[in-house]
Amino acid sequence: MGKKEKILIIGSGGREHAIGWKVAQSPSAPEIFFAPGNGGTSSIGTNVDIKATDVDGLLTFAKKENIDLTLALPDDPLSLGIVDKFKKAGLKIWGPTKAAAKIEWSKAFSKDFMRRHNLPTAKFETFIDFEKAKKYVAKQPLPVVIKASGLALGKGVVIAQTQKEANEVLENMLVNKTFGEAGQEVVIEEFLVGPEISIHAISDGKNYTIFPASQDHKKIGENDTGLNTGGMGTITPLPFVDDELILKIKKDIVAPTIKGMREDGNPFSGLLYPGLILTKDGPKILEYNARFGDPETQSYMRLLETDILNIVDASLVPDVGTPQGGSLGDVGHLQGRCPTSIVWKNGFACTIVLASGGYPGNYEKEKFISGIEEAEKDKDIVIFHAGTKTKDGKLVTNGGRVLGVSAIGTTLEEALKKAYKAVEKISFEGMQYRKDIGKKSLSTHV
Ligand code: AMP
Ligand code: GLY
Repeated sequence: MGKKEKILIIGSGGREHAIGWKVAQSPSAPEIFFAPGNGGTSSIGTNVDIKATDVDGLLTFAKKENIDLTLALPDDPLSLGIVDKFKKAGLKIWGPTKAAAKIEWSKAFSKDFMRRHNLPTAKFETFIDFEKAKKYVAKQPLPVVIKASGLALGKGVVIAQTQKEANEVLENMLVNKTFGEAGQEVVIEEFLVGPEISIHAISDGKNYTIFPASQDHKKIGENDTGLNTGGMGTITPLPFVDDELILKIKKDIVAPTIKGMREDGNPFSGLLYPGLILTKDGPKILEYNARFGDPETQSYMRLLETDILNIVDASLVPDVGTPQGGSLGDVGHLQGRCPTSIVWKNGFACTIVLASGGYPGNYEKEKFISGIEEAEKDKDIVIFHAGTKTKDGKLVTNGGRVLGVSAIGTTLEEALKKAYKAVEKISFEGMQYRKDIGKKSLSTHV
């Protein structure tokens, strides 16, 4: 028998648990390590106590443990150049380089990229100077959108309803530096109206293939009210996104983005996740992410039939950094090292996030969690862990987003019904969740 492949998954959220869950089903049955992982990942692999941002620590571990493949999933290590460093050390790693991931970690860069390549997005200008920004904002219609350019955990976006509010936000970001480095540069942009969707395209730097469309629910409160969060629940595929719209998104957004990155000398190899808003003038790009979405991935993994390691392998090109070739074919067809197309289960998947009381503000940790086993008695339910850990042999909360309750069903309605039934079996002190995930999609439109 050959040696077992060793896979290192970086991160500690529901996304990492979901990808690990799928990797664990690979016919090659690899040995899985999570750095740092959570209370759920320890049941399918080994948690290693190294932070996702400790790139040198991760590199030392990967070398010492002879890791065969590292999956770099969260945005922070990508922005710190983990892929470049691992590659330089001769290690196999999946994810975009620091230069390619800039499409996420600098909104100023990504907006400029969209402008140069004529991609559909909100009208905008970028500023580092407070007085100039104030002058510009005074001439914009309200509401106006102000974004910290850097990574800010989804909290660096403000939709200002008045000029006074806009000025305060600009002063906080540019003068008081409340967002630190992330807010030293701001993007001021036009307010767009329409439903938001998430697109996931896996690319080898040249070719790509896209997943079914999905939708996150970013606000903490029902009917999309209250503060922004990392994401409170997802559904996929979307009943209101037809093949024609997918073709348009591929033609107008995904293909020119992949092509533009390659032409600019930064081929994007990894997972490109543009967040789109479907305006009456067509789909427009709100932002790019250079990674799998969370909780989108928790729903995706439930429908994915193909071995995820084959897909990852097909998107890994040894010559990233050069504009030449790759091995992923378009239109869902994988060529080269991956022998099959990406196959998805029929039906729908959804994920309901259970969060700590107080999230996305301050919250308490170490609350005892009960009911997971009971909830998973339904074979269509899988509970992915995010902010959990084990303490004295018991599962307790350890973060804002605690669990993702995922379900599959023949119809979206069935999947949601099952998921909410499972949610009722789980409890921890302060637990909160949105009761309207997927609701707008059920009522035909959005
Ligand atoms: P972002 O991090 O850029 O995706 O922004 C976070 C959230 O703010 C998005 O999911 C939207 O709900 C909202 N948002 C961002 N930009 C705009 C815009 N130009 N118009 C309307 N809403 C926006
Ligand atoms: N679902 C939101 C994100 O991953 O950024």
